[in-house]
Amino acid sequence: MSTLTVTPRGKDRTTGGRGDGRKDRKKADRKGGKDAARGVKAVAEIEGKPGRKSGSRGSGRSEGRFEGKPAGKSAKKSDAKAGRRSGTKAKSRKRWLTARTCDRHALYEQSVQEPEAECDLIDQAWREQRGRACRSIREDFCGTAAVCREWVKREEDHTALGVDLDTEVLGWGRARIPEQLTAAQAKRIDLVQSDVRTVRGPKVDSVLAMNFSYYIFQTREELRNYFRAVRRGLKPDGLFLLDAYGGSESFAEMEEDRDFDGFTYTWDQHRFNPITGRAVNYIHFSFPDGTKLRRAFEYTWRLWTLPEIREILAEAGFSDVVVYWEGTDRKSGEGNGKWKVSAEGDAAAAWVAYLVAKP
Ligand SMILES: C[S@@+](CC[C@H](N)C(=O)[O-])C[C@H]1O[C@@H](n2cnc3c(N)ncnc32)[C@H](O)[C@@H]1O
Repeated sequence: MSTLTVTPRGKDRTTGGRGDGRKDRKKADRKGGKDAARGVKAVAEIEGKPGRKSGSRGSGRSEGRFEGKPAGKSAKKSDAKAGRRSGTKAKSRKRWLTARTCDRHALYEQSVQEPEAECDLIDQAWREQRGRACRSIREDFCGTAAVCREWVKREEDHTALGVDLDTEVLGWGRARIPEQLTAAQAKRIDLVQSDVRTVRGPKVDSVLAMNFSYYIFQTREELRNYFRAVRRGLKPDGLFLLDAYGGSESFAEMEEDRDFDGFTYTWDQHRFNPITGRAVNYIHFSFPDGTKLRRAFEYTWRLWTLPEIREILAEAGFSDVVVYWEGTDRKSGEGNGKWKVSAEGDAAAAWVAYLVAKP
């Protein structure tokens, strides 16, 4: 069973959601003023008085410190880290982030992304579906291109092409390349500004569409056109990997907080229209001094279901589509981070799954 009862963004693939020491605070059905937010463009709004002493506001912690861990890291590791930090020296050295000093892309990577887990899954899918290793990837909707960076670090023959429309986020990702990669690794990564539906370039082993970014396409026709473009960009024995989320909670208007080291991440399922299937979601960040970066990111998505996605992949010409569903840890009843091809899922309140499609 995949009982990933946390927000799909900031998803916790390797520990299976809760039960890992993080504090999730849901505010389902306690939201007001949702109408005001409809159609509002995401301009990050800074709230609060910076410079206020670090305290428990926002964190819900009496000691006024933020702990927690990036999604997907083991609880054991995090606890050890927290323990190391408990000395007074470490405390006094810590400079807390505020809404004014934070970098929203860095916070996003820390709270939402798991490039290592995604690259592990590429390797697993290739072993199981193709019996050979994947070398070239195209990361669609790459944003900061965290997966591209991880991919080229792994093997000397790995190449990565990142595609995104937004120059600002691509610039942020490009700036990380010389910081984090060797010159040889940097040569094997290319970030291009383009629409994923019209991007040109050499055919690749794998195209990735992760963190539900393709939910931006609101109609079957738009989604089919995107899937067709992906298929054209794949080698004949390539694989298209994409993730999906669902479950009863995904249709609810609710907020969920998760504490990280130095900030709280809020996933805000702000508005869902059951007639169109359109959802407006936000990510907010808040800080120990009480300041907030509201609407740091906005997502207007169509909430696609797995059967719809599979049907549209078939309409776009994909010959075979399998779903990887997460196993269950017997003791905790939570997801165990082990993904298997499955024909039957379970009706969890919230789940994340991967699809692997053959062109
Ligand atoms: C949710 S972010 C994804 C970031 C990252 N890939 C991840 O997995 O978390 C979505 C990104 O898709 C980009 N985007 C939206 N529509 C696009 C399109 N048609 N073509 C290329 N990029 C697009 C946005 O600029 C944004 O950076």
